[in-house]
Parts: sequence; structure tokens; C-alpha cells
Amino acid sequence: MPIGAFGIHCESALFRLAILWYPKSMQAWLLDQPNGIDQLRLGDAPDPVPGPDEVVLEIEFAALNPADQYLAQKQYPARPRWPHILGRDAVGRVIAMGSDVKTVSIGDRCVILRSAVGVDQPGTLAQKVAAAAESLASYPESWTVQQAAAAPLVYLTAWQALTQWGNMPPGVVAITGASGGVGVASVQLARAMGHTVIALSRSQEKRQKLLLLGAHHAFDPNQPDWANQLKQSLDGRKVDLAIDNIGGPQFPDLINTLGNGGRVSIVGRLAGVVPQFNTSTLLFRRLRLGGVMVGSYSAAEAQNAWKQLTALMQQHQQQPLVDSIFDFAQVPAAFARMEAGPMGKVVVRVG
Ligand SMILES: NC(=O)c1ccc[n+]([C@@H]2O[C@H](COP(=O)([O-])OP(=O)(O)OC[C@H]3O[C@@H](n4cnc5c(N)ncnc54)[C@H](OP(=O)(O)O)[C@@H]3O)[C@@H](O)[C@H]2O)c1
Repeated sequence: MPIGAFGIHCESALFRLAILWYPKSMQAWLLDQPNGIDQLRLGDAPDPVPGPDEVVLEIEFAALNPADQYLAQKQYPARPRWPHILGRDAVGRVIAMGSDVKTVSIGDRCVILRSAVGVDQPGTLAQKVAAAAESLASYPESWTVQQAAAAPLVYLTAWQALTQWGNMPPGVVAITGASGGVGVASVQLARAMGHTVIALSRSQEKRQKLLLLGAHHAFDPNQPDWANQLKQSLDGRKVDLAIDNIGGPQFPDLINTLGNGGRVSIVGRLAGVVPQFNTSTLLFRRLRLGGVMVGSYSAAEAQNAWKQLTALMQQHQQQPLVDSIFDFAQVPAAFARMEAGPMGKVVVRVG
């Protein structure tokens, strides 16, 4: 054998051995401690290894949620290992599978429904993520990959907010923070269910877009008489269900718009605590408040909800709304966009 050929053969064998032995790594946005989103740093993390019932996805797009920010500020019930990788939503291709996984194949493109990903487990602001196979789902072919990445958490949340009271005949649904991820999802799903939809947003431009997306009326909650304007627009009807993403000082006015037996699905509190609230306002109309927690869906319940809501959206030719797409290197700017108040979802291009 010529010496040169032997040398080349030897080198490549050693190289392969080194690759096999050396732990592989990926790029990820790392948070060393829950000290705020401005502490995120781009670094190397070990490649995820799937457990028996897990897969590894190579991520193409991820999406941001306010919960990522809350977790980074220690305001979310999570117990991750530090450094942690944030991110609940993503779309990607299956590149590795555990021995017990039978439901997907290598190369399948999937989204992740609500799960421990980005909460107690490393999340999707990384090149790869391990996720339970039972939390993976496909999405309508008419959606783009970016729309798919944006959808799971907020559409499942909106679905729970709309359906947690049982089968509701078509009525009036009012949505606060309607321009955000959960808000837009609630507007679209409520419209598809046949409800009269009222959207609240502080921005004139976003109110116009919400009307185009399916809201029947849109009001500015910063106007002192918004609740009266809302009542007048309904010709004597009252709000049957309010989906509240905001809380804060406008909550008593929201309660005021509800009719007998009215319900409020409490999703978030972006405007902080409700400063003064008289519980007797709930008595005479027998109003009911109910918390929404998308994480409380079991994997099977989330799959069932996802099937129903994607079918409904397809039937009504609806697509998730992407506000903006940022490169992987620009994750801090993407969080700033989310904080500034997007119209729909903020997405990150990973792949
Ligand atoms: N319970 C659950 O399971 C669950 C699941 C998902 C999300 N959430 C929570 O639900 C809330 C909404 O989530 P999201 O993803 O829709 O948020 P988002 O995309 O950031 O949008 C929320 C919208 O609310 C409005 N807003 C923001 N801050 C406000 C303030 N201080 N006062 C009044 N309006 C304000 C903005 O609309 P305008 O500028 O147009 O007014 C913004 O576009 C968050 O608190 C989130 O953590 C809860």
C-alpha cells in the first residue's frame, strides 16, 4: 500500500473516531440564572439525546411567548436546570428517535404542542430540541412553516378559553389584548365558532387589522367610555364570554359589559393586578370567572384540541398571523418586539 494512501486512510479513521468520542454540541440561547431576558447569551450546549419516548427535532423556526419572559424573571412555575434554554414553540424535522417511538419517522416535520419543552426541559431557542413524541403534531398544509411555528401555544390557549365552559351557543365574545398572540387566535376561533366578536386594542392601526381578521367591533380600552360604546354597538345584547389577557385597571369595566350568566376566561394579566374590584358585581348576574392554563391539558387533550381547532381553521380558511421574523442571532431584538406589542406572533428563524 502506498505510504500516502495509508496516511490519508489513517487520518480519516482518527477523525471519525474523534467525532464519535467527542460530545457534539449545538448553538443555543442560554440563560445562566433567572435574572431577566437581557442576560441571555448565545453559546454552545450539548446536543440533546432522546429518551426512549422522545424525538430530537432540528429546529427550523421557533416562536416567542410572554411566558418565556416570565420564566426568565422567575415569575413562572418552572424548575429547569441552569443554564436553561427558553422557548415553547417550534417547527422542525425529526432527526433522532428513542427506541419506543412509533408515531413519527425520521424526516417528519412537526410542531410541538404544550409540553415540558422550554419550561422544565431545554426549549426551542436552539438548533435542536428533545420533545416527547406524544406532544408532536402535524399542521394544515395551507399554513407556512413560520405560521406553524407560531401557532400551538396560543391557539391551544384560545381554544381552552373558548371551550372551558362547555358547548356555548353563538353569543357575544369580548377579547382584551386582542392584537397579541392569544388575542388574534381568540378572534379567529371565536369568529369561526359563530360568535359576535369584540376586540380591544390600544392601537387604531391594530383595531383596523382586527376587523379585517374577523372581529365585528373593535374598541380602544384607553377611551374612558369604551364599555358604553361596546354596549351601544350590541343593540341591547350583552357580552356572554370575555377572554381577558390584560387584567389591570380596566377589569371592572369589562365585568360591567357582561350579561346574566356571563363568564370570564382569565388568560393573562399583562396590565398587572386589578387595583380595585368589588366582588359583589359578580352576584346579581351570577357571573363566573375561570382561570385558563394551557399547561393543564394532558398530551391527549392537547392533541384532541389541536385536531379540532386546526380543522375549524381550515374550514374557515384561517391562518395564524406572524407579526415579524427575526434571525437566530437577533433573539434579544425579537423579545424587544414582543414587549413593544406585536400584531400576532414574533418568530425566530433558527435553521
Ligand atoms: N394562561 C395560559 O395558559 C396562557 C397561555 C398563553 C399566554 N398567556 C398569557 O396571556 C397574556 C397574553 O399573551 P400573548 O401571547 O397574547 O401576548 P402578546 O402577544 O405579547 O400580546 C398581548 C397584547 O396585549 C396588549 N398589551 C400588552 N401590554 C399591555 C398593557 N400593559 N395594557 C394593556 N394592553 C397591553 C398589546 O396589545 P395592544 O397594544 O394592541 O393594546 C399586546 O399586543 C400574557 O400575559 C401571557 O403570559 C397565558
